[in-house]
Amino acid sequence: MAQERTLSIIKPDATARNITGKIIDKFESAGLRIVASKRVQWTEAQAQKFYEVHKERPFYNDLVAFMTSAPIVLQVLEGEDAVAKNREIMGATNPEEAAPGTIRKEFAENIERNSVHGSDSAENAEIEIGLCFEAGEIVG
Ligand code: CMP
Repeated sequence: MAQERTLSIIKPDATARNITGKIIDKFESAGLRIVASKRVQWTEAQAQKFYEVHKERPFYNDLVAFMTSAPIVLQVLEGEDAVAKNREIMGATNPEEAAPGTIRKEFAENIERNSVHGSDSAENAEIEIGLCFEAGEIVG
């Protein structure tokens, strides 16, 4: 498998609990490299655009409110098979279904306050990275 990049977001529930370092350690310990990183607080418009694909879902408005409620950490993770590897490190979306040792099993509060987002495909990773970073902000 070739080198890949994926977008990671450390969500407001995690920044509020001051556990960004513990989460970043999970990525680095699994061999992913952080090639871009910034802490921001999204506007409503930014969150709506990022999660546009979910706009018909019943949880969309709550998700946008949650993602704008506190700072988040946007990161580009790079490594072999990075999209799938990051999803493995994060665990299932619902922490009740997440495997032991995963970020969501250890840190998530519930399906919404689930500590991290990760791109679900290489195609979406490219789109999401483009939404969150300028090319010059990514330094491999
Ligand atoms: P994320 O990977 O950021 O993508 C969409 C988010 O919607 C998801 O993680 C969850 O945090 C949130 N969400 C809230 N409720 C649900 C639900 N019922 N099913 C899926 N995702 C949900």
